[in-house]
Amino acid sequence: MHSIKINGGNTLSGTISIGGAKNSIVALIPGAILTDEEVIISNVPDISDVKALENILKYLNVDYSKKNDIIKIKSKDMVNKEITKNMSSKLRASYYFMGSMLSRYKHVEISMPGGCTIGNRPIDLHLKGFKALGATITETENKVIIDAEELKGNKIYLDFASVGATINIMYAAVMAKGKTIIENAAKEPEIVNVATFLNNMGARIKGAGTETIKIVGVEKLHSCFTEVIPDRIEAGTYIIMGAALGDKLKIENIIPQHISTVLEKLDEMGAEIEVNDDYVIISKVNKLKATSIKTLVYPGFPTDLQQVFASLMCIAKGQSTIKENIYENRFNNLFELIKMGANIEVNGNKAIIKGPNNLSGCEVNATDLRAGAGLVVAALIASGETTINNADYILRGYEHIVKKISSIGGEISLL
Ligand code: UD1
Repeated sequence: MHSIKINGGNTLSGTISIGGAKNSIVALIPGAILTDEEVIISNVPDISDVKALENILKYLNVDYSKKNDIIKIKSKDMVNKEITKNMSSKLRASYYFMGSMLSRYKHVEISMPGGCTIGNRPIDLHLKGFKALGATITETENKVIIDAEELKGNKIYLDFASVGATINIMYAAVMAKGKTIIENAAKEPEIVNVATFLNNMGARIKGAGTETIKIVGVEKLHSCFTEVIPDRIEAGTYIIMGAALGDKLKIENIIPQHISTVLEKLDEMGAEIEVNDDYVIISKVNKLKATSIKTLVYPGFPTDLQQVFASLMCIAKGQSTIKENIYENRFNNLFELIKMGANIEVNGNKAIIKGPNNLSGCEVNATDLRAGAGLVVAALIASGETTINNADYILRGYEHIVKKISSIGGEISLL
């Protein structure tokens, strides 16, 4: 495991260019095997989750090549074999092979997916969807086997608008016989990105981005080119950094509408942001005001930015509150912030932050990806030196984070 060392207090200015969305690309890569023709994807972020998926594809004998931010995948010679624990445990999104391989082979064997430990993360809705389409599921201690004689369209209601379940069901349904309707589907921009990708391959999907998605099964999918949308969580992270430390910090290659709730909250806190078509410019202000956030499915406040936002709340004046509605255990970062000098009370899925706090550097642990990103923001704000252990979590989802922060004046190194 790597560590990240940061000397805090520097003003951040210059330009950060945002990469492709992690939560899109980790779905698009497993989806690329829905055709045996070539799939080309651009704006691919350089993150370790992509490397983990590349390893799974190579193990399955799929041709994979990468040049700069463009990848090419061709699965003509693919072999359907069990995706074992050492591969599937590297990232949660390995579960997307369930939907895509079920669609292609009607038989999948895969170990339970890994991912960040932020509370109970069942995959019951994914499995409920596959069953509704005619699959049988056999769960052993740590493995799932999914079989189907034939996949047939059906109406599926999701008890929770899960991003993963929505995409996995789209994968299983694109070549099923007849029509599938997903009710209470997730509406995240990544869902629209994946549906556009599938439609470019010849799928017939309507309604992506709304709560009802209709899919008419087609015989076969074909080659396509698709582009990954900008990462709204990476964008939000750097914008939050700018609210704390920016001097005309420009965050470019973004879609501001995708993070409108975050921009609204920053505005409420008194941050100075200029929002343009595909970039924002942000500078720190003397006094940020406390605020409250409640995480919700899109377009609500994203849970993936909650931990990053908490670091900013530490320097706001007054009492800020957080209510985490998506996960039951997404506050591990707060205990690290307390070590840095923050005044925080945690009670179940609620937290109260009383500010402003003077944060001081010390040794902290990144317990998961977004907790780690939050600690990077806190360490940049803090006086003195912070060492963030378990930094590999951060590298899973933030491309070239050390290089990007150094380029805007942050004192940061990877150990
Ligand atoms: C996606 C994102 C993740 C984000 C999350 C919520 C990817 C790869 N990951 O995860 O970054 O934090 O959305 O916006 O896109 N749930 C069930 N049953 C299921 C699936 C989910 O009950 O079958 C519930 C979970 O208990 C949890 C919520 O849905 O409360 C989100 O679960 P999770 O599975 O982490 O969401 P994903 O869609 O996989």
